[in-house]
Amino acid sequence: MKKVTYRNQISRVLGVSLVVFLLFSISIFAQDGAVASGDPAKGKALFNQNCAACHALNRKMTGPALANVESRLNADEGLDREWIYAWVKNSPGVIKSGDDYANKVFNEYNQAPMTPFPTLSNDDIDNILAYTAAPPPEPVAASAAVAEGGEGGSSSTGISNEMILGALVIILGLLVMMLVLVQGTLKRIAVANGLDLEKAKSESGLPLWKAFAQNQFLVLVTVVILLLSGAYFVYGWMMQVGVDQGYEPIQEIHYSHKVHAGDNKIDCKYCHSSARVSKTSGIPSLNVCMNCHKSIYEYKGNPEGPSQEDLANGYTNEFYTGEIKKLYKAVGWDEENQSYTGESKPVEWIRIHNLPDLVYFNHSQHVSVAGIECQTCHGPVEEMEIMSQFAPLTMGWCINCHRETNVKVENNEYYAKIHEELSKKYGVEELTAAQMGGLECGKCHY
Ligand code: HEC
Ligand code: HEC
Ligand code: HEC
Ligand code: HEC
Ligand code: HEC
Ligand code: HEC
Repeated sequence: MKKVTYRNQISRVLGVSLVVFLLFSISIFAQDGAVASGDPAKGKALFNQNCAACHALNRKMTGPALANVESRLNADEGLDREWIYAWVKNSPGVIKSGDDYANKVFNEYNQAPMTPFPTLSNDDIDNILAYTAAPPPEPVAASAAVAEGGEGGSSSTGISNEMILGALVIILGLLVMMLVLVQGTLKRIAVANGLDLEKAKSESGLPLWKAFAQNQFLVLVTVVILLLSGAYFVYGWMMQVGVDQGYEPIQEIHYSHKVHAGDNKIDCKYCHSSARVSKTSGIPSLNVCMNCHKSIYEYKGNPEGPSQEDLANGYTNEFYTGEIKKLYKAVGWDEENQSYTGESKPVEWIRIHNLPDLVYFNHSQHVSVAGIECQTCHGPVEEMEIMSQFAPLTMGWCINCHRETNVKVENNEYYAKIHEELSKKYGVEELTAAQMGGLECGKCHY
């Protein structure tokens, strides 16, 4: 008779943990529940690869805005999905066939040809249409994707709450099961040793399993607290590693050095003009951006659409143009009236390179006097979609270079004189920055 009660208890506990597991997995899977016809996530990828070079969801580009295109064409023109299949696969063919609407829209868009996509299947197009029917993605979501893709400090945010919760639930489940098994064994031993459990129960005033459960609850709470604090410290450790070399914060406006200094070959000093002449390089004011961006209001992107790399980082043309809008908002530029509204809210760029206060570092000394390229210290900036810290900026890093780099003495009378004296002293022709005094504490420390 007793055996039956034990079994009941075990199965009850097992049942409860099973239910928890089921609820948990349902909640995860419910999130990517597919829509009846077509998968918007797949559609988004296809759209970005094939269509985004010419189409945006909510704005005219080379072609019409495609948000809800199917229901719009259906309501306004009585066109069905079959028409869209035919159009996407071979729009020049549909135009040639004399189709009224095709010719109308073709002329409306100055007879700009749309690339035919004979390799897209009907399923592919269903997916794209599902994407265009879904509410447009928030730019915020795109920057969140950046954060997850990014290296360094930001990558620690990649662990989702679900994963942590999942791990906790699994651990809890295992613990409960183990405790139940232990309890069962203990009882069996007690019975085997001739202990009367019923009697023990009435004597202690508490049923044995209740006492157990209460203690176990304590154990569980302790374990959970230990786990949580462990996670907290690991997180802190990861954050600390991220701040330094490779530090790559997400900025308020997605500004790309790759697009500006790389693709469009804008000189570093156009924006960082003080690097040549002063201690600091400085970040350009938004007015400098507006020299160009009054007329550049659209990111045209690659003619082939966003690169695979961009897509992997969550960038689409849609995302880029949104960023220029943010610039307008920050400087208070009214696109429609082409004038400033006077309402501006300067962007607070997060500073990436930062020496401690006790160090003196001078850009012009290195850039103008020593003639060192920006890239020697800042890395291949013209390839950086997101700016990150390239060099460690430690004392050892400064000193190594001072030991290895010869100073330029040509066209520098001051140096020429010291150079003569010092090269006699060291008995060498070329002098390193170190020999010129670049290792003296006072040169770098206030
Ligand atoms: C090279 C640029 C280009 C690409 C790439 C492109 N389109 Fe187009 N699309 C156009 C243009 C331009 C039009 C307007 C008609 C015309 O001029 O041919 C258009 C029209 C359309 C229309 C009709 C919309 C309306 O409101 O009348 C649909 C639907 C469409 N495109 C879907 C797509 C899809 C889906 C893709 C990707 C698989 C795609 N397009 C890729 C340029 C492009
Ligand atoms: C069109 C303007 C522009 C041009 C051209 C440009 N930058 Fe920048 N740069 C910025 C802006 C804006 C920021 C701040 C946002 C950021 O960190 O991405 C910045 C940030 C930086 C930083 C990091 C500053 C910090 O916070 O520590 C470095 C280093 C840098 N730029 C180097 C370069 C170099 C090297 C070049 C040339 C290859 C260059 N930049 C060209 C606008 C520009
Ligand atoms: C010898 C190495 C070196 C060279 C060469 C160099 N930088 Fe720097 N840069 C640094 C260091 C170190 C810092 C951090 C300075 C600080 O925190 O005071 C820095 C900081 C910056 C910053 C952040 C803002 C500021 O002024 O502190 C920008 C922007 C920048 N550099 C741009 C440039 C550009 C553009 C060039 C080329 C014209 C360049 N740097 C050349 C080492 C260098
Ligand atoms: C000398 C001209 C020039 C200046 C100055 C300039 N840009 Fe640009 N910007 C461009 C060009 C060219 C493009 C590429 C447009 C395209 O490909 O269609 C671009 C594209 C962009 C884009 C979209 C693509 C991207 O980079 O993500 C943003 C956002 C942007 N710029 C922001 C800025 C900000 C912020 C500043 C000021 C710090 C700035 N720009 C200064 C010329 C400039
Ligand atoms: C890529 C090589 C390089 C790096 C990295 C570098 N320097 Fe230099 N530095 C030089 C050279 C070369 C000179 C000599 C310039 C000249 O001709 O006056 C110099 C000169 C100096 C001077 C002037 C020394 C004097 O004799 O007047 C100071 C101060 C200085 N550096 C500080 C720093 C600090 C601080 C760092 C690290 C944050 C650093 N440097 C990193 C190459 C470098
Ligand atoms: C070429 C430049 C340079 C010279 C020369 C130099 N330092 Fe430094 N020093 C630095 C930089 C840069 C840092 C900051 C390093 C960091 O934040 O990791 C630093 C940091 C320090 C620190 C603080 C370390 C810490 O962990 O905060 C001390 C102490 C120090 N230096 C002492 C000296 C002494 C003593 C000398 C002379 C023997 C000297 N330094 C010469 C560039 C220099």
